[in-house]
Amino acid sequence: KRIAILASGSGSNAENIIKYFKNSDLVSVEQVLSNKKDAFVLERANRLNVSNLSFNRADFYASDKIVELLKKNADYVILAGFLWKIPQNILDAFPNKIINIHPALLPKYGGKGMYGMHVHEAVVANAEKESGITIHYVNENYDEGAIIFQNSFEVTATDTANDVANKVHTLEYAHFPEVIEKVILQNG
Ligand code: GRF
Repeated sequence: KRIAILASGSGSNAENIIKYFKNSDLVSVEQVLSNKKDAFVLERANRLNVSNLSFNRADFYASDKIVELLKKNADYVILAGFLWKIPQNILDAFPNKIINIHPALLPKYGGKGMYGMHVHEAVVANAEKESGITIHYVNENYDEGAIIFQNSFEVTATDTANDVANKVHTLEYAHFPEVIEKVILQNG
């Protein structure tokens, strides 16, 4: 099965996924796409010899350019730090085939604007006792699709937002590729 990865930023999750499936005969990472032409994720894809490109709002929301590209190249679409809402034409083309990772325990700390450090700062500000990751199917609203997988860790009284971010990344790298593999194995 072929996957395309959408990412807006650094792409450490995208890199981890690409490396995990490097020698897989089940999954191949066909393409990395970003809404930011200078996103480091594109540099990571280049270094890993994965086809990649950037697109703008018009491409994504006002044309069939990206959905046609995804339909041609991918069976699944993975969001790994992708900050834009997925348009209806892509949701329709990939029913239960778009998977996102969120750096918190949804439904808490989800929704527009809740990404990256904003999430971890809010968790610390609210003195939460735990945080973690949520991997879920994507629907028309931010962070509201059916949950596939969650894993949590204890947030200590001395943890900073950065400490929480590091603990989240550790869980993401440990679980995201395997959860993707399991979904593809189960759903085909
Ligand atoms: C990850 O924490 C992910 O959960 C969130 O954005 C971050 C992306 O990090 N959606 P990276 O670009 O994969 O390094």
